Amino acid sequence: MKRLAIFASGNGSNAQAMIEASRQEKWEEQVVLVVCDQPSAYVIERARSLHVPVLAISPILFSTKQEYETCILQTLHSLQVDALILAGYMRLIGPTILHSYEGKIVNVHPSLLPYYPGLQAIERAFEAGEEELGISIHLVDEGMDTGPILQQVSVPRTEGMTLVEMQKAIQAVEHEWYPKTVRSWLDDQKNRGGTKHEKASVN
Ligand code: GAR
Repeated sequence: MKRLAIFASGNGSNAQAMIEASRQEKWEEQVVLVVCDQPSAYVIERARSLHVPVLAISPILFSTKQEYETCILQTLHSLQVDALILAGYMRLIGPTILHSYEGKIVNVHPSLLPYYPGLQAIERAFEAGEEELGISIHLVDEGMDTGPILQQVSVPRTEGMTLVEMQKAIQAVEHEWYPKTVRSWLDDQKNRGGTKHEKASVN
């Protein structure tokens, strides 16, 4: 897998961390597109300043989710994108994209799944008085923040910690661990490809 697209809806700090890590560490894989469903999101500005092409496309312009995703898919296919990285994309991936990228979509979520899937995960865990919060990085299936877990990292709540401090701590962990986990997932994919190739040449 050589060509990656990042999907995001908002601030885009994880998108930026991923693009920067891929460049600093000279990944063979390249982020060739940022897809954003909110035309005024800050992630668009971040992507442009990093010189990554953006597809900013609002679903309200389409009458069905299938039409919306078909339109995105055309761009993904024309750019020969191999895998998708969701980084704060606040929308369920529907069957149209899922079938085309089965097993090739990764997501980061700010909770220790299966606890607190969905929106406002940090706020809900914090208000419930959890002493250990954290992040999960997982493959995407049709559910909301479900799918096989690739990595979880816990973030302890220290005495007197405020919600804002906890949000910052969790984001810092995401910025470190999301690129690292995607990197090792990409390596696993490569190794699997290698194994298959070796078997094919032996037979
Ligand atoms: C991140 O904390 C990410 O884990 C979360 O949205 C935030 C996006 O921040 N994703 C979800 O909640 C997905 N269910 P960013 O735009 O600064 O990267």
